[in-house]
Amino acid sequence: MINMQHVTKRYTEGSVASVDDLSLIVPEGSTVALIGPSGCGKTTTMRMINRLIDPTEGTIIVNGEDVTKVDPVILRRHIGYVIQQVGLFPHMTIAQNIAAVPKLLGWDDAKIRNRTDELLHLVGLDPAEMLKRYPRQLSGGQRQRIGVARALAADPPVLLLDEPFGAIDPIARTRLQDEFRQILQRVRKTVVLVTHDLDEAIRLGDRIALMKSGKIVQYDTPDAILSHPADAFVENFVGIDRAIKRLSLFTVDHAMTADKPRQGAHMVASTSNLRDALALMVAANSDVLAVTDASGAVKGQLTRDAIFSV
Ligand SMILES: Nc1ncnc2c1ncn2[C@@H]1O[C@H](COP(=O)(O)OP(=O)(O)O)[C@@H](O)[C@H]1O
Ligand SMILES: [Mg+2]
Repeated sequence: MINMQHVTKRYTEGSVASVDDLSLIVPEGSTVALIGPSGCGKTTTMRMINRLIDPTEGTIIVNGEDVTKVDPVILRRHIGYVIQQVGLFPHMTIAQNIAAVPKLLGWDDAKIRNRTDELLHLVGLDPAEMLKRYPRQLSGGQRQRIGVARALAADPPVLLLDEPFGAIDPIARTRLQDEFRQILQRVRKTVVLVTHDLDEAIRLGDRIALMKSGKIVQYDTPDAILSHPADAFVENFVGIDRAIKRLSLFTVDHAMTADKPRQGAHMVASTSNLRDALALMVAANSDVLAVTDASGAVKGQLTRDAIFSV
């Protein structure tokens, strides 16, 4: 869906390349997290995809078309874009904000109204309460949700998200990430997500592209990045706790057995992730947990050894 080949960006002639001979393919319907230290070229890479920035060299194909050969204004109507800093249009109501692109595309009022309601439900907000408000009358988390709704409004096949949850406190951020992941399961999109937060990349990315000095040093699944860092830079970036972070990729279901746990064992839901299960074990000072199903009935056990051999 997105195919970048040998893309280089120099902001001024002869300067150091901010993006340096970068090639990246984002398969249709998948989410790629672009991650790396500040200044490594994540935002530059993303903004070349919707031509907010033109590459110095290389080609970028989106949905079969070379982006340099498409009118950038038309292009951007078909690519949803969410950024952290420049949020919603402050002088427009929430309804007008969400309707911005559909209006440009000439949708009629009834269709826009239906779509706006549908999107607000999708991001977990009440249309009756939200539509007439202005962005300043919303909390940070609500604004972020509206940002996502606005990006989805015209149902673009591609979404670009630049640190979309960066302005939110950690607890609300985790919840929004989970909700966003559920939204993506319902409306399949090709997503490029820029983040400097490894946990966010792990939680949302089907694949992670780790960048350094304008280049991609590793492009892999979260599991592969965490279990097989390509070099010392990646290893250092993912951190000493990478084995624990990796456990968050698997649910208890993945490692449990149907054996009957001993009486009095602490319980864990089969849908919990193994990182949380290990935390429970440490807290309970035990190396076995009883695993429960959705109804709360015990359906097996999870041992520490089983977690460690995932
Ligand atoms: N408009 C610009 N003019 C000149 N240099 C820029 C501009 N925008 C970014 N850069 C430089 O390009 C490099 C990559 O920046 P950026 O893509 O914003 O990184 P990231 O998003 O990973 O923090 C940095 O060295 C930055 O200073
Ligand atoms: Mg950036």
